[in-house]
Amino acid sequence: MRKNIVAGNWKMNKTLQEGVALAAELKDVLAGKTPNCDVVIGTPFIHLATVANQVEGSVIKVAAQNCANKESGAYTGEVSAAMVKSTGATYVILGHSERREYYGETSAILNDKVALALSNGLTPIYCCGEALDVRNANTQNEFVKNQLEETIFNLSAEDFQKLVIAYEPIWAIGTGVTASTEQAQEMLAFIRSIIADKFGKEIAENTSILYGGSCNAKNASELFAQPDIDGGLIGGASLKAADFVAIIDAF
Ligand code: 13P
Repeated sequence: MRKNIVAGNWKMNKTLQEGVALAAELKDVLAGKTPNCDVVIGTPFIHLATVANQVEGSVIKVAAQNCANKESGAYTGEVSAAMVKSTGATYVILGHSERREYYGETSAILNDKVALALSNGLTPIYCCGEALDVRNANTQNEFVKNQLEETIFNLSAEDFQKLVIAYEPIWAIGTGVTASTEQAQEMLAFIRSIIADKFGKEIAENTSILYGGSCNAKNASELFAQPDIDGGLIGGASLKAADFVAIIDAF
């Protein structure tokens, strides 16, 4: 059975102290609740160990926002999947459009990152999504299909079942413009249909597919009520405990 997941992506926000305070607040608020979804927070690397330690025993799981495409060695400034795993984090966000756009992450690089994440026991939250010009040309399905075919569709069926997909249209990220419920549902249904073509219906039905892009407390319930939307990858609205918990409560 696929899981519902609400995952926060803090991006490059919060000092260590601020991040620890936010995680502590979330842990407190969630202590009395049994969410109808898995809860993940994606923190900067430097927060991972402290935050993972702090949320231990709660429902909150921790994600890195990236990992290196190399196993170990002379790669100054990089953080390996094994290092991420050693902090207590269990997820890693990979292929975010900001990484693709600003840091030149290609499909080849992402294939290596996904392989290393999986071999180190991390669950990748694998991002895909088109820019506005692609949407305006109405070629978003082909674009997203291509993104998946060049990367995670190369995995074995066994490995494919270990990851989560997040569809984040670039035009909806941080803009306040959410994809309409219909647009989001339509794309996630399309993604599920191409997973079914590639790996079979059962695997498609069991894959968690999230929507991301200006998802907030106001629009989350309508989005999450759609048959193919299994949760959200949340940027801005994950930076305040009350906002993030309201999205969790939307399930
Ligand atoms: P916003 O929720 O701020 O639009 O960001 C979405 C996102 O990029 C999450 O990874």
